[in-house]
Order: sequence, then structure tokens, then C-alpha cells
Amino acid sequence: MKAIVPVAGLGTRFLPATKTQPKEMLPLVDTPVIQYVVEEIVRSGIKNIIFVTTRHKKCLEDYFDSHFELESALEMSGKSETVRELRRIVKLAHFSFVRQHAPLGNGDAIVSAAHLLHDEPVVVAFGDDIFVGRELVTKKLIEVYRAYHAPVCVLKKVPRSKVHQYGIVRAKKIGAATYQIFDIVEKPSAKNAPSNLAVFGRYVLTPQIIDYLRELHPPSRNKELGLTEALRLNLRRGGSFYGWEVSPQAHFDCGSKIDFLKATVYFGLKHRELKHEFRSHLRSLEL
Ligand code: UTP
Repeated sequence: MKAIVPVAGLGTRFLPATKTQPKEMLPLVDTPVIQYVVEEIVRSGIKNIIFVTTRHKKCLEDYFDSHFELESALEMSGKSETVRELRRIVKLAHFSFVRQHAPLGNGDAIVSAAHLLHDEPVVVAFGDDIFVGRELVTKKLIEVYRAYHAPVCVLKKVPRSKVHQYGIVRAKKIGAATYQIFDIVEKPSAKNAPSNLAVFGRYVLTPQIIDYLRELHPPSRNKELGLTEALRLNLRRGGSFYGWEVSPQAHFDCGSKIDFLKATVYFGLKHRELKHEFRSHLRSLEL
């Protein structure tokens, strides 16, 4: 299975930092957000990754390419471990890049890469959503896809006071963490929300969903095309849709400032060289 990773968004929630720098390249300690996304997909068994980029995100393409001069300079100064790590990143997967010509929504971004698919299911991973913990989320989604041969997304419980920020599902639990989804409501009020289960940025999509995205394309004037619209169309036309629930601690939406901060603390406390000093610093703040 291939993965499409859209990274062409404007990142307006993280301005001014993202005025000149992709939000997907912001570092969590010493590793950019996008690398966590890629590593999780690769560990789930994906070898072909198609990034949907845009003209001001070129550094992202360079990040997954070799940097000959840097590697030679590091080698000459005996930093072979760093060189090994840089080379490992380049070899993580086969990377392809397509351009989205205007920021017309994550659905439009997926359509920009759809010509590289051959009537096959595909993983879609948003470049700012990262998942941590023992479970490989993408692998779980692929397992659910293989059981039902229908589209699958990640679900996470959010506080009722925040449902108005997300796509919220009406769903029935059919397994330990598996749900059958019957409807998605975009940013409902707390009063009208069908649940507090929100959809986040990992999916397995079927060729039918790609066809629905094409049908909804191009978005009408001054509007964006969201993937949710195609998933909703699928449900309206009698298609099935499933979700896999992750624990709230297992996910960070790194396009939001607060989750980015939480993720920084998470990875700081896990970092081989920094964790002890960082932990004692945090403890000292609590006093
Ligand atoms: P978001 O839905 O968070 O949109 O993107 P955004 O525009 O990047 O962010 P904000 O809301 O303005 O802060 C989810 C993923 O889809 C990509 C983003 O780069 C992100 O990784 N995306 C979004 C695109 O590739 N193209 C788009 O037009 C929109």
C-alpha cells in the first residue's frame, strides 16, 4: 500500500512561525514533526510515500534527500553516527513529490496525488498529526481495512467543550477499539454533537473515496475541499465507514500550538541525552 502525505496547507494556526517555515518542519526537540509521521507509516509497512507539497515547502523535499557536503564535513570531523542517522532518514522509504497549486483544502491535496494510484486502497496521513505509544496506528487502520474492505479513520475522544473544533462522528462500537461510523458532522455545537469522538489525520481510503473526491472537485469559489465531504458522500450513498479509537494521550495535533507544546514535553522526557536534566527542570518549576 502507498501513502499520501499532504503537507501543502497554510498552517494559519501556527502563525507567525509558519509564515516562512512549514509547520511540518517544526522540530520536536531535534526531529521535525514530519519525520515522526513518516516513521510511523514506514513501521506500519508502507514503503512508498507521496508527499503533496507546494512551492514554499521545498525544504521538506530536501529533508528527505542526501546532503552530500554536510555528510562529508561530518565524516571528516569523525561524526559518523550523525552521518548514519542522516542517511537512514533518506532511505526510510521511496519518496515522491507532487504539487498542490493552491491551498484548496486537504481533499484537493489528495486529488493532486490521485493520478499516481492504480485503483488501489491508500493510506492518507496528514503531515501534522502524530501518534505515539506502543500501537502503530496506521498498521491498526490497515488491519481494520482488511477486515471490512471499507474506508477507515482514526477517532479520539475530545472534551465536549471542544467538539465545535472538529469533525464529530455518530458511531457504534463494534470491537475493543473499532467503531462503525454512520455520519460525520463538521464542527457541531456541544448541544448538537452526536458524540465526542473526533476524526483525526490518519486514514485508509478506498478507490471509491478517491472517485468521490474527484466528483466533488474542484471546490466551489472561495471554498476548500475537505476529505470529510467525500467520506460523508460515501455514507449518504450507502457505503460503509469504520473508525479505530486511540487514547487521548496517543495523539498530538502538531498544527495546534498547545498540542505542539505537549508533544515537545513528551519527546523531551524521552530524549536519550536530555531526559534527566529536562525532568528535573520541570520538577523544579512545580515547586
Ligand atoms: P489542516 O486541515 O490542518 O489545514 O491540514 P492547514 O491549512 O494546514 O492548517 P491551518 O488550519 O491553517 O493551521 C491537514 C494536513 O493537510 C495539509 C496540511 O499541510 C496538513 O498536513 N493540507 C491542508 C494540504 O496539503 N493542502 C491544503 O490545502 C490544506
